[in-house]
Amino acid sequence: MHDFTISQDQSPDILYSDLTSAARAVTDGEPDAIANMANIAALIWQYIPDLNWAGFYRVLGDQLVLGPFQGKSACIRIAMGQGVCGTAAETNSVQRVADVHAFPGHIACDADSRSELVVPVCKDGSVIAVLDLDSPLPDRFSLADQNGMTALIGAIANNLG
Ligand code: SME
Repeated sequence: MHDFTISQDQSPDILYSDLTSAARAVTDGEPDAIANMANIAALIWQYIPDLNWAGFYRVLGDQLVLGPFQGKSACIRIAMGQGVCGTAAETNSVQRVADVHAFPGHIACDADSRSELVVPVCKDGSVIAVLDLDSPLPDRFSLADQNGMTALIGAIANNLG
């Protein structure tokens, strides 16, 4: 077990800086990507408020396959280019979706989801996974969340694949 002192009453900059430090600490020296994804999903779930799903899909061939997560059981396979996750993976670009119902092809794994943030995980120039965050609140994710999660994933991506 790891105990981190991370206050949610901080500015996003400090929250994400603390969270990134914790992410580095739990993955440092551990080569197993699944174990690391599991701990990162748990960390995000514990410290980022107003989420109903937080986890990873891994790129396997031309599909995304469900990886470690927190939240309700979810769809297992997503075709590359499909939904918010498949779009992020295929285009190697962050998808910050204020209203998932307005996103063409959005895949509703949890009917409670209203907004979504998907961050590609890149290693050696390839997308190897995506981090997917869902919220029951509309427009939950700010640019600060996007930048903070992108920095966090960038800091530990080498240990996620
Ligand atoms: N909504 C995602 C599918 C994954 S679940 O949200 C966990 C999508 O459209 O790709």
